[in-house]
Amino acid sequence: MVLSVTLPCYISFSFLMCFVISAQSYNSITLGSSLIAGDISSPWVSPSKDFAFGFQKIESGSFLLAIWFNRIPERTITWSANRDIPVPRGSKIELTASSLILTDPSGREVWRAKLLAGSSRVTLSSAAMLDTGNFVLMDRASAVLWQSFDEPTDTLLPTQTLKQGNRLIASFSSKNYSSGRFSFNLAYNGKLALYTTDFPLFNTLNTIYETFDDQGFGNLVVFDQSGSLYLADSNGGVLVDIFPDEISHEQSLYQRVILEYDGVLRHYVYSKSASRYGGWSIKSFTPDNICTAVIQQTGSGVCGFNSYCKLGDDSRPHCICPPGYAPLDPNNEMSGCYQNFPPQSCKEGSQDKNQYDFKVLQDVDWPLSDYEHYQNVPIEWCRHFCLTDCFCAVAIYRNGGDCWKKKVPLSNGKNDTSVDRIAFIKIRI
Ligand SMILES: *[C@@H]1O[C@H](CO)[C@@H](O)[C@H](O)[C@H]1NC(C)=O
Ligand SMILES: *[C@@H]1O[C@H](CO)[C@@H](O)[C@H](O)[C@H]1NC(C)=O
Repeated sequence: MVLSVTLPCYISFSFLMCFVISAQSYNSITLGSSLIAGDISSPWVSPSKDFAFGFQKIESGSFLLAIWFNRIPERTITWSANRDIPVPRGSKIELTASSLILTDPSGREVWRAKLLAGSSRVTLSSAAMLDTGNFVLMDRASAVLWQSFDEPTDTLLPTQTLKQGNRLIASFSSKNYSSGRFSFNLAYNGKLALYTTDFPLFNTLNTIYETFDDQGFGNLVVFDQSGSLYLADSNGGVLVDIFPDEISHEQSLYQRVILEYDGVLRHYVYSKSASRYGGWSIKSFTPDNICTAVIQQTGSGVCGFNSYCKLGDDSRPHCICPPGYAPLDPNNEMSGCYQNFPPQSCKEGSQDKNQYDFKVLQDVDWPLSDYEHYQNVPIEWCRHFCLTDCFCAVAIYRNGGDCWKKKVPLSNGKNDTSVDRIAFIKIRI
């Protein structure tokens, strides 16, 4: 641990006020220091240069105020202040006595570090990018008044913890860092779980898809230096081993735990030695099969509406449009699919059912999208009944005689051997 405790501190403030930087050296960033987005000014780096704090340009051409791994070509982002409000070139971050403040080129304030409750009368004295990847704001006595480790985005770094009431929120997509559709949440009542969110209301939780502690004894999620991620009880004891990884040569590796845009929590490692350059590799992940883990009563599931999820050989989910459907956003396979043909007429006497037929998909299903269910019927009856029903987009048949009619938009789509059903997808011929 790099922070040590000295007592007494500011009695009226939270105990965190008592943390004082001591055990390690750091480059002090002084009051009035600033960085401009798009400028050639170098970011604020940690003494080892492992981490940097500053502006990073993203796909859209705008900038995130971020912390990243600074010595690897990927420049992987570990934290961001303004993920939901990227700023244009010319925006500014400045350290003042009252806070660290991000403004856009017109001078409008976009973000500021919220100092610990009760510390409004205290003035800042300096800031530092630490070798742990934690960015801290300090007063004259080097007491920490704010730290990026307390406000994680989607990533935890070794020595970082997640406290009750705190959460990771996945990015929207692989290239869009905005808050997205999944959350790793330690509630105030001590329950720890992975949730889907009510996107775009990413702060409201929809459905649990993996539970680590539903008893409510969880006090803190700890990601320790040796690479294990666990839920601790109020005595610091291990309640649940989430990733019981033990890295033997931890000094030779970079590590991070991230809730990724596809809903999977992953532990990544990266060899620091250039000769073994291979980028990030996955050490552990959960859930094992995200495609079958997520079922939402409302919402599209892991993939977007009308698509289905198939776990790839790389253990990542892939979202696939069924025949007759096309991707809404070709750059984001999780965006869902639209029906790429005119709908069947429901007008009385219409003969256009002759223009529709089925494509057959093995082991594909869209749970919870059905509006009718029949038992003990033959497969041909099931097909015919869907074909002559203008509302029916898909018929699902299970050996033994079950027949379900499904309507669009289809949700929770998956392709997995456990499905054991046949999907008849209605298309226009
Ligand atoms: C990222 O996704 C969010 C949420 O859907 C959207 O509002 C935003 O425009 C996207 N940003 C870019 C650069 O595409
Ligand atoms: C679904 O998965 C099963 C088993 O993995 C495979 O046999 C089948 O062809 C798949 N169906 C589609 C449409 O990919």
